[in-house]
Amino acid sequence: MCGIVGFCSNRETELNATEILIDCLSKLEYRGYDSAGIALINKNDLEIRKAKGRLSNLENLIEKSPVEGHLGIGHTRWATHGEPSDINSHPHTDVSNDIAVVHNGIIENHAKLREWLEKHNVVFRSETDTECVAHLIDFHYNGDLLLAVTEALKRLEGSYALAVVCKSDPESIVVAKKDCPLIIGRADDFNLIASDVTPLLEYTREVQYLEDNQVAKITCDNVEIFDEDNILRDVEISHVDWDMQSAQKNGFEHFMLKEICEQPYALEQTYKARVYGGKLDLGEMSEFVKEAKKVVIVGCGTAYHAGVVAKYAIEHYARIPVEVDVASEFRYRDPIINSDDLCIVISQSGETADTLQAMRIFKTKGAKIIAITNVVGSTVSREADYVMYTQAGPEIAVASTKAFTTQLMCVYLLTCALIKDEEKSIELMNELKDIPQKAQTIVDRQEEIQRFASNQFNKSKVFYFGRQSDFAISLESALKLKEINYTHSEAFAAGELKHGPIALVDENTLVVASCCNSKLYDKMDSNMKEVKARGAKVLAITFEKNDAFNSVADEIIPIPNTEAFLSPILSVIVTQLYAYYCSINRGNDPDHPRNLAKSVTVE
Ligand code: AGP
Repeated sequence: MCGIVGFCSNRETELNATEILIDCLSKLEYRGYDSAGIALINKNDLEIRKAKGRLSNLENLIEKSPVEGHLGIGHTRWATHGEPSDINSHPHTDVSNDIAVVHNGIIENHAKLREWLEKHNVVFRSETDTECVAHLIDFHYNGDLLLAVTEALKRLEGSYALAVVCKSDPESIVVAKKDCPLIIGRADDFNLIASDVTPLLEYTREVQYLEDNQVAKITCDNVEIFDEDNILRDVEISHVDWDMQSAQKNGFEHFMLKEICEQPYALEQTYKARVYGGKLDLGEMSEFVKEAKKVVIVGCGTAYHAGVVAKYAIEHYARIPVEVDVASEFRYRDPIINSDDLCIVISQSGETADTLQAMRIFKTKGAKIIAITNVVGSTVSREADYVMYTQAGPEIAVASTKAFTTQLMCVYLLTCALIKDEEKSIELMNELKDIPQKAQTIVDRQEEIQRFASNQFNKSKVFYFGRQSDFAISLESALKLKEINYTHSEAFAAGELKHGPIALVDENTLVVASCCNSKLYDKMDSNMKEVKARGAKVLAITFEKNDAFNSVADEIIPIPNTEAFLSPILSVIVTQLYAYYCSINRGNDPDHPRNLAKSVTVE
């Protein structure tokens, strides 16, 4: 949540720092869009522009009141402390406006710090937790910005990625990180920083990942990184080979639609990354996976739903018990983890605060961890013992789509490795091989789904139900609709309906029934009849050529045949497209859903 950026060049530069900062912020807007702001060192002055609302408001402000400089920092906000407003927008400054700070994270002891600073005659302007950081740095500033930041950090509790500039130190940006991501981009004549790699790709592919508790001083031609004992560290420069194109809309109206349509390719890439010549290659994690007696999976939101799908698949195919939990619950429930449990952490961004904390609990129990993540160099990828990368490329839309299905591909591949019977494992792998092309046939049906959405988008309640894997995927489908259509949508295990939820069903209800397990068709048929009898409309998602629901469903959207436990990877594409087109019909912006941010780096 919140995105920070920084750009540092020399005074002779022809590069326009304002433009570069705005460009970088535009690629981080998915992290929050309650306000945006920049601070620039212009000659020896510090100039700030900030505005409530989307980045375009800041751009309008800069058009009316231009600002330039050779070095600066920027911020796009997802409000935590203090409502979205001009005054609460970052950057925040000290009393004399000499020091400016942008921050991603939460300063948990901000109230105490505020009280202490107020006793030292500091008058606060905003309600944010961040403002106290600017005042603290000022308090410790004695001509050395790096030292002042280092001293201030000692008094902070909570999480932060910080970038700081100072009028009296006009050639450097000081950055620091704890529990929030911060990446340094190294170019020939300038250096940059950002909350993730995507904004940097336009300018460089050489990056350094700052570790927790490190502080760095960045100038136009140098980067010095210090650890918490102030020892200069030699941090490896990594090359990022992500394709820049994949971070662009490429003619699609929204990133979300583009990312839905990219799924066949992303799935193929994820499969191919682990299967060569028909053989599964999990590298050094294979031995450890084979020995697993119990699997424990954590994640949040969509990533958690990938875990639920995995539970059904692993238990069915590999007959190994699986426990799955949302990371924010797992971390507080005193979980029972044995050192030989196979612990899987799923996170697109690899930076979700609760997921990171859950992962650290696995570590304290001595368990080995496999991370399934999309972001190379993310904290999850660096802290896990083994990593399976989803080959989805940058996922920009807040509502996760291609990251989810590629997470499913990873868990299915892990399932293949967990199956003891080699023949069965190969069978499943062969089935997985065809998934990308089957996904394409659903993407190709989008006009049909669009038509359905334009008739049904304004239902006041949408309930998704199914049994087993179909229930697991109902959870994700309901979340997608909530996120971008703001409809009250819920997922139910179909059998649970008559234990309460059916009381909610009326003629304003759409029920989306996922029915991909032939053993349960009869049960699903009864459940559909029950809701129809109460006035609901029913959309059934089932395998092509299955006519079991022709007489009961109002509409059927078929998906290609596959194994029942693999069907979520296909049926979800239908519900992603349905949610997308509902959101368009409502006039919402699916890429920027209200109140949400893509990367939840606060607890
Ligand atoms: C998905 O559409 C959501 N935006 C959200 O639930 C997300 O999956 C969750 O915040 C976890 O994010 P992560 O995968 O980056 O850890």
